[in-house]
Amino acid sequence: MQAISGYSKLSKEQKLAWLAHQVSDNPEAFIEEMKSYWHADRAVQKLFDEFSENTLTNFYMPFGIVPNVLLNGELYAVPMVIEESSVVAAAAQSAKFWLTRGGFKAKVLSTKKIGQVHFLWEGDFLKLDVLFDELKEKMLDNTALITKNMRQRGGGILDIELVNMTHIEPHYYQFKATFETCDSMGANFINTCLEEFARTFKQWAAVQEGFTEKERQPMIIMSILSNYTPECLVQAWVECPIADLGNFEEMDAATFAFKFEKALMIAKNDVYRATTHNKGIFNGIDAVVLATGNDFRAVEACGHVYAARDGKYRSLTDCSIEEGIFRFWITVPMALGTVGGLTNLHPLVRRAFEILGHPNAAKLMQIAATIGLAQNFAAVKSLITSGIQKGHMKMHLMNILKHFDATESETAAAIEHFKHHVVSFSAVRDLLDGWREAAEAKRNSGSDAASV
Ligand code: MEV
Repeated sequence: MQAISGYSKLSKEQKLAWLAHQVSDNPEAFIEEMKSYWHADRAVQKLFDEFSENTLTNFYMPFGIVPNVLLNGELYAVPMVIEESSVVAAAAQSAKFWLTRGGFKAKVLSTKKIGQVHFLWEGDFLKLDVLFDELKEKMLDNTALITKNMRQRGGGILDIELVNMTHIEPHYYQFKATFETCDSMGANFINTCLEEFARTFKQWAAVQEGFTEKERQPMIIMSILSNYTPECLVQAWVECPIADLGNFEEMDAATFAFKFEKALMIAKNDVYRATTHNKGIFNGIDAVVLATGNDFRAVEACGHVYAARDGKYRSLTDCSIEEGIFRFWITVPMALGTVGGLTNLHPLVRRAFEILGHPNAAKLMQIAATIGLAQNFAAVKSLITSGIQKGHMKMHLMNILKHFDATESETAAAIEHFKHHVVSFSAVRDLLDGWREAAEAKRNSGSDAASV
């Protein structure tokens, strides 16, 4: 592989050709395959190309739905974009289970977002502290135009605090601002406000008569929103009398509830289990976040930090059994938007919103949290009953069969065979090889006997 300068300036065809000749023994085939994933409609392709840089082709991911999600009394089909097999099936199984047991409930606890201006100021903190209200007024005045629309929608800047961070580093302070961004995720809005706060501060400090020369020259280190939004918080839950849980194959409802609660206790207290437990929750949340054009990295980063908010990384879900009632809930922060960003641009994101009945941001938070909870219920249910591999291996088997280009009859026969045998890549390969060799031998010996 050679280094290249000016790659971004090349046309898409040139970019593809350069790469193909760098990496492939058969550049024509490489280019042809990459191009085969281009959208037939040039305008749509142009749209996809422009989402990012150096775009060569489209990377397909499955877009599926989970039907039967009863949330706060309303039925939803929830779109999910995810490549991992079993995730949609698991959420769908949970949705169906709770459909007949009162459904899911959810509520948004708060919707505040945070941004910070980090700066160094060599001076007397008290001097700044005393004048901070005046500075804050100026910051609000100077952002009035930026915040006008947001204020009309009921949002804007909620507060700005001066935070003394000199216990961490000499001369280090922050302006920590809280925002309400209504139905937008608000990243651009917040960052624009923060940069204006920083500008205002520099201009204001430069003309303060009571300041020393150094105090008139604060050094702005950076102005950026925080993806940690512990006060942009949603809760979703399910509950029913233990007896209504029903039986799980060999296991009665009381044993199920007991084991479920113990599994949650483990995920609350053991970091190794908590990580996997929460990973499963984000299987569900991320897939909804992705389908609705939101930033799943931000949601995950925030969720994991929140899971460690008391200094120890713990499960995001909780369970209680009190007076015969099984209750299971999730409390998770997430900053989602239903306007702006990809939400109005990506044709499938627009369809996802149509499928969901055009929710606002608060409703989308409830839907995503519910799918996280549904996912976790399905995972823990499998783990404490049949074990996770049973369901996983069925999907895994299908993937392996696809890998070996199994025919329909081979697939059907393999599914039957693996009801009684352990699935593994080599076991599937050996089985198919055996069948194919036998069929070949039959053909060679002139036999027309049927084979799988
Ligand atoms: C797999 O992607 C997720 C699970 O491991 C989650 C869990 O263990 O709770 C099944």
